[in-house]
Amino acid sequence: MPGTELFGEEEKKEIMDVLESGILFRYNHDQQRNGHWKARSFENELAIYHGIRYAHLTSSGTSADNLALAGCGIGFGDEVILPPFTFIAPVEAVLMAGAVPVFAEIDETLCLNPAAIEKVITPRTRAVMLVHMCGSMAQIDEIADLCKKHNLLLIEDTAQAIGATFRGRALGTFGKIAVFSFDFFKIITAGEGGAILTDDQSVYEIASQFSDHGHNHTGNNRGAEPHPLLGTNYRISELHAAIGLAQFRKLPYILERQRANKSKLVDAFYGFPQISFRKVPDVNGDSATFLDFFLEDEQSARKVLKTFDKHGVSYAYWYDNNYHYFKNWDHLKMLKTASPQGISALKPLQDYKTLQLPESDKIMSRLISIQIRITWTDSDLQLLSENIKKALREALL
Ligand SMILES: Cc1ncc(COP(=O)(O)O)c(C=O)c1O
Repeated sequence: MPGTELFGEEEKKEIMDVLESGILFRYNHDQQRNGHWKARSFENELAIYHGIRYAHLTSSGTSADNLALAGCGIGFGDEVILPPFTFIAPVEAVLMAGAVPVFAEIDETLCLNPAAIEKVITPRTRAVMLVHMCGSMAQIDEIADLCKKHNLLLIEDTAQAIGATFRGRALGTFGKIAVFSFDFFKIITAGEGGAILTDDQSVYEIASQFSDHGHNHTGNNRGAEPHPLLGTNYRISELHAAIGLAQFRKLPYILERQRANKSKLVDAFYGFPQISFRKVPDVNGDSATFLDFFLEDEQSARKVLKTFDKHGVSYAYWYDNNYHYFKNWDHLKMLKTASPQGISALKPLQDYKTLQLPESDKIMSRLISIQIRITWTDSDLQLLSENIKKALREALL
């Protein structure tokens, strides 16, 4: 992914600041840290970039998903609407909160379909947890309106789409709270790490306290700080925050390179009427992490996969992948967790074993994605385009 293609002196410098002071903890130790507050600086820059009041870093995107739900006070018995095409983390977070994941169909944006959301709302629905998949956006304006209409909280999981915008406004700023991930496979990486972003002071305070055993972070005497609530440890370390900070400053460059390379690669697909592209509600705001396209049916998609293999074209076929698509989540269908009792509170709700999502299946089985690299040279791009054309001709003409 792009961030990992760009490690350099900037990351090293930020890390050395931390190592030289010896303070790897993000709070307190004001005298010893030589003025270096990496987590705090990264939070400030994230908030300013997004035009949002509060950002709070976490140990991972998954803990940010958990924190977003905690910040919104979502808990036992609440229903949260989710897409079946997502990394499984937000689904697990809903379960960990004691709440109930309810799945709705996606559409050709690869994200939740607004009309499908409306069909699964019940009196117990508290939130829609939207996932902006593969670097681009859901129909965020319609979904935000729908949440307002039904008095639902909108949580944006923007883990895969930092820097993407809809009509000039950053994804992650449309709902009550947003989640980001900086794991090794994201647009920018801290190795591990995540963040929440919100404009709501009370949501921010609860989230920040919950992420640090309830500490309310007042003053510099940690031992004397009040703990208004019970929480856990989702803290980021200064080392991870330091890497994330250096990477975040490279985001504009990453976006520019991704967009330029995607626009060159797209030409390889012209002349094949069997191919259509993912629906992107605002093409100018696409982060361009992936080029996503559809074939007419599953059989043609599988033919293309074979010729891609033959010509050395790398791709993702999410329909078969067992951590991004609902169809393959046997552990969820069996309600398997660490406790031998399973997740018994869920039993009366959607039966995941028999749940059918035919619209999503139809979309996912036809979808192939190609990841855009920022370090491609012109000759890499030319060779890849030629191989794509050869593979498509063999499969489709
Ligand atoms: C949409 C989405 N949400 C949450 C996460 C979890 O992030 P992390 O791996 O940092 O825990 C991921 C990771 O792939 C993701 O893709």
